[in-house]
Amino acid sequence: MSCDTFASLRGPVAVIGAGTMGHGIAQVAAMAGCETRLFDVDPAARERALERVRTNLERGVELARVEPATRDAALGRLTATGDPAEAATGADLVIEAVPEDLDLKRRVLSEFAALVGATAVLASNTSSLSISRIGAGVPGPERVVGLHFFNPVHIMALVEVVRGDRTAERVVEQARQFAESLGKEPIVVNDSPGFASSRLGVAIGLEAIRMLESGVASAPDIDRAMELGYRHPMGPLRLTDLVGLDVRLEIARYLHAELGERFRPPALLERLVEEGKLGRKTGQGFYTW
Ligand SMILES: NC(=O)c1ccc[n+]([C@@H]2O[C@H](COP(=O)([O-])OP(=O)(O)OC[C@H]3O[C@@H](n4cnc5c(N)ncnc54)[C@H](O)[C@@H]3O)[C@@H](O)[C@H]2O)c1
Repeated sequence: MSCDTFASLRGPVAVIGAGTMGHGIAQVAAMAGCETRLFDVDPAARERALERVRTNLERGVELARVEPATRDAALGRLTATGDPAEAATGADLVIEAVPEDLDLKRRVLSEFAALVGATAVLASNTSSLSISRIGAGVPGPERVVGLHFFNPVHIMALVEVVRGDRTAERVVEQARQFAESLGKEPIVVNDSPGFASSRLGVAIGLEAIRMLESGVASAPDIDRAMELGYRHPMGPLRLTDLVGLDVRLEIARYLHAELGERFRPPALLERLVEEGKLGRKTGQGFYTW
């Protein structure tokens, strides 16, 4: 599989933001054969990102999931830079993974829009912002699309391709094919709060918390209902502990504001977050870790 597989997106890929998501996106793009430039304003973040990619690939080789030749080729295709022009030169695809801030995302995509060709695709890895609203602040909103990867990027198969209200069908299709070329399993979602994954995942999680609150069953039994009855790999309360109760609360507040009452955060979730019981990262959430 290589970047050349698809005639429409054959040039280099520029990834903006070299944090948790950016380094992972750059890794899978480089592994799939794309010349990949990772741009970040912070030199330490660039250094860390390259180190994380090297470590991930080493581990992959140790576990016999990555061929040594694939590791070497991927590392050879990946560069990190603090110069936007260097990152953008010839790029057919720009993927931003900067912090979740509408103005910042509009700013970086606009900056790169001016540096790439007129048909280059401008993608956002936002987990909650509206693609239509991001696109409205970028020259050429028809080439702005969501490419929502999941953490850790090199492990998780799902990519949500998000169609904004002005995204061209050509661009949706190019984004979908690009995700496939990385070995991912894309789904196409129309721009709406929480896309498909967060909206459904949070709905189940909040209902599980309300059930715990009203004494329907214990946390392990509620989780087992979904694990054994619906074959979820992990119950909703354990998953909330892993994601972080604060992260889930933030998304619930956003979905409540956008979609109404059914996403109102349960009092128990608010209380646990106030008490600093944020899940695995603090040692206590719905479970003791
Ligand atoms: N972390 C997750 O689990 C996850 C999952 C899916 C989507 N997302 C989304 O991905 C995006 C990035 O999240 P993250 O967790 O990787 O963040 P992060 O904080 O780990 O990384 C963000 C990076 O962007 C860099 N940056 C800031 N301003 C910049 C600029 N102007 N130009 C270039 N780089 C800049 C920072 O230096 C940092 O290295 C967010 O929109 C987030 O909602 C995150």
